[in-house]
Amino acid sequence: MDATTTDTFRSVNPARPDDVVGEYPLHGPDDVDAAVARAAEAQRDWSALPVPARAEIIAAAGSVIARDKAPITALVSREAGKVLVEAGGDVQEAVDMAQFVAGQGRSPWGETVPSELGDKLCWTTRQPVGVVGMITPWNFPIAIPSWKIFPALLAGNGVVIKPSEHAPACCEAFVAACVEAGVPSDLLQVVHGFAEPAAALAVHPGVQAVSFTGSVPTGRKVAAAAMETGPRLVSLELGGKNAMIVRADADLDLAVDGAIFGAFGTSGQRCTSTSRLIVHPDVAGELVDRVVKRAGELRLGDPQDPAVDVGPVITASSAERIAGIVATAVDEGATVACGGEPVSADGCTGAFFAPTVLTGVRPDHRIAREEAFGPVLAVLEAADLDDALAVVNGVEYGLSAAVYTRDINAALRAVDRIDTGIVYVNAPTIGAEIPLPFGGTKHTGNGFREAGARGIEQFSQLKTVYVDYSGRLQKAQIDTHPLREGT
Ligand code: UN1
Repeated sequence: MDATTTDTFRSVNPARPDDVVGEYPLHGPDDVDAAVARAAEAQRDWSALPVPARAEIIAAAGSVIARDKAPITALVSREAGKVLVEAGGDVQEAVDMAQFVAGQGRSPWGETVPSELGDKLCWTTRQPVGVVGMITPWNFPIAIPSWKIFPALLAGNGVVIKPSEHAPACCEAFVAACVEAGVPSDLLQVVHGFAEPAAALAVHPGVQAVSFTGSVPTGRKVAAAAMETGPRLVSLELGGKNAMIVRADADLDLAVDGAIFGAFGTSGQRCTSTSRLIVHPDVAGELVDRVVKRAGELRLGDPQDPAVDVGPVITASSAERIAGIVATAVDEGATVACGGEPVSADGCTGAFFAPTVLTGVRPDHRIAREEAFGPVLAVLEAADLDDALAVVNGVEYGLSAAVYTRDINAALRAVDRIDTGIVYVNAPTIGAEIPLPFGGTKHTGNGFREAGARGIEQFSQLKTVYVDYSGRLQKAQIDTHPLREGT
């Protein structure tokens, strides 16, 4: 979008910050005003389009993204620092989402219920909210916009999105695919910059719903600000402190693979990353040794090199922040079993953090409670399943958890008692699929779920409709059917 300012910022490759991916305007409140006005204007025609016609355009957007999967994957890798296979998964998630949401355009849109009175119909339908403001992170720069934009468009809304300042090019690529597929360009507006346009969007009176994915402190600010300027839907997808329980009877090969992928995939910068390993003491020694060995074998480097396992962290200050978290853990009594510090990687000038395993962590340590958003795995021990479950649940987050065991009773007890939005059995805490709801309990969110059949709820309002074709006044709860008289 054109900006009222000539001030710009640069998006850089985190593996080599001298590689500038693009230069973008620093949009301000006036630009946000203009974007909201355009989206609102375009939304009038869009909302008049039949839902299956909107769905067709969303399906076409998925096809454009699928066609361009290779270049978009390369862009995700370059701009967000994700290794190629994971960048490809990020893009694929958007393709999956487009297909799923397009299908929802020809699926039930509400419910019908028999009336308690004769000659009367009752049903629900969905209405758009108007313009949705979205604030999205850099770590899933294609998938997360797709979780929000596709259902919002299907529901008939206009959209103004403020992507992370670390992933503006990815967002522009996503939006370009949508526009090529037929989404009116005014309907889907992008504003760029740091906190200022995000804050302006959150409080904008022309925005009827705000959807935010990011950290807990920012999410709280966004929600508080958004509610100040009027009633609106505010959906939050915040952090996680995701635990993997490994019981003594677990398949340890599987648990090691899961811990490595869960903790160090995306350099631990997922909200679903495995950041706590809660191990039975009988297998703790062997499991830690094997995880440490594998962590040491991971190849750090340019994420665009297919041989690389772990890319950079997003910025140098992120590496410093993670180092501070590790130092605090050590002060509190944890032991660094491997990693623990920023490192350099061959041919790269960006910031890397060595895959880190901390042992001797107790549930009250900060590293056991606070999100590190980096490749740091804290190991805690618990013999009893109930103790392990108490540790899993003893944090303020509730996004994802995993249990590794061959004991079906223990697995199902864990599934039942773990207080998170997503639970895995014999699989790591990452790997959510599109047709199912994504989101968490407690401070992870505010009750909404993304993706799945209910992903549309944060972007639409239900309308309940009653049609009385009896031709006379019928009174619910008061009139009774002759056969019910006297009851
Ligand atoms: C995130 O961690 O920010 O389940 C999103 C997963 C991915 C989405 C993660 N499908 O790990």
